[in-house]
Amino acid sequence: MDTKARNCLLQHREALEKDIKTSYIMDHMISDGVLTILEEEKVKNEPTHQRAAMLIKMILKKDNSSYKSFYYALLHEGYKDLAALLQDGIPDVCSSSGKDSVAIASYVRTVLCEGGVPQRPVVFVTRKKLVSAIQQKLFKLNGEPGWVTIYGMAGCGKSVLAAEAVRDNSLLEGCFPGGVHWVSIGKQDKSGLLMKLQNLCTRLDQDESFSRRLPLNIEEAKDRLRILMLRKHPRALLILDDVWDPWVLKAFDNQCQILLTTRDKSVTDSVMGPKYVVPVESGLGKEKGLEILSLFVNMKKADLPEQAHSIIKECKGSPLVVSLIGALLRDFPNRWEYYLRQLQNKQFKRIRKSSSYDYEALDEAMSISVEMLREDIKDYYTDLSIFQKDVKVPTKKLKTYCRSL
Ligand SMILES: Nc1ncnc2c1ncn2[C@@H]1O[C@H](COP(=O)(O)OP(=O)(O)OP(=O)(O)O)[C@@H](O)[C@H]1O
Ligand SMILES: [Mg+2]
Repeated sequence: MDTKARNCLLQHREALEKDIKTSYIMDHMISDGVLTILEEEKVKNEPTHQRAAMLIKMILKKDNSSYKSFYYALLHEGYKDLAALLQDGIPDVCSSSGKDSVAIASYVRTVLCEGGVPQRPVVFVTRKKLVSAIQQKLFKLNGEPGWVTIYGMAGCGKSVLAAEAVRDNSLLEGCFPGGVHWVSIGKQDKSGLLMKLQNLCTRLDQDESFSRRLPLNIEEAKDRLRILMLRKHPRALLILDDVWDPWVLKAFDNQCQILLTTRDKSVTDSVMGPKYVVPVESGLGKEKGLEILSLFVNMKKADLPEQAHSIIKECKGSPLVVSLIGALLRDFPNRWEYYLRQLQNKQFKRIRKSSSYDYEALDEAMSISVEMLREDIKDYYTDLSIFQKDVKVPTKKLKTYCRSL
């Protein structure tokens, strides 16, 4: 271990020994691979009041990664003040060391967990180009207030991409050392927005050092948020997921750095400061689609039945649709042909599965976009339709229409 780290640990040994409960801290260190089960046993065999002392004695004999793992374990377990004592001793990152990368992963996990950033979906494929496009825009904010908007249609993967973009050590350390804070916005009325803001203020002021009273209205909440971000969380990133209304953004138009996801790219039209956009227009390619299906059904890509290829074609690159079908096929492995037919016949209601995604079926996710259209343009959506929904159409009639096209 570096002398600097060792000295820091020795200097604050007493405070650490007095306050920490070892069992959860050791869980983190074991999962980071810097502490063994035997060592854990050894600590547990000590009388309760001497366990922390034993753990620290062990760490002092270990390397830099163990120090970092201990530091992040303290952070993760809510010993922020004690972690702060060790901050100056954190050794420089050396990416060639396997254990260091473990400690980095642990740091990233802690920051994202504290900020309420959702985890990856159970079945996940990378989308490197889009992720790095988002990261580049975030770097461009350069520590100054501004907006990065990820926009695209329902289920194209915006929220997953936003979470993935901040799952990056260099971005977190370099651009947002104050952390990241995820807020799921969704469609809101005034009282809904106030509640979101109150929750966010509580989260940003957990020790209530700023105020014990919740803000009473949106204006007060906006002021509170500005001060909290400025004084308690400088250089932090707010992530506003699933924004529908421009007026909602006024409450956050507050000299903050913001990443947001939306289906409507005009939501930031009336906010101040630099704005960058990342469109999610390209869907998943065929190979990524097949990869999702193969992971869901636990088969090699080459062994997937021939319907898999047609299903991917029908999904038109939508990660949501591929994942819905994959999850259904995991439960009903004999239904490849059935789901292919449902897709071909656009029977989206039958493609339904509850998951962490906000909607259970594709038609729900899409129809909400139509509902949100302005009244005067909503009719255009159905202008070109010639038959009522769910009405049986005789072939003869259809032929007549086709002939006249
Ligand atoms: N990279 C990915 N790998 C695997 N599955 C993904 C990926 N991205 C998205 N999905 C699947 O698609 C679903 C929808 O993704 P996501 O919630 O990011 O869409 P969205 O664009 O934010 O939709 P909405 O406009 O409704 O908010 C996820 O729940 C997940 O199942
Ligand atoms: Mg979303």
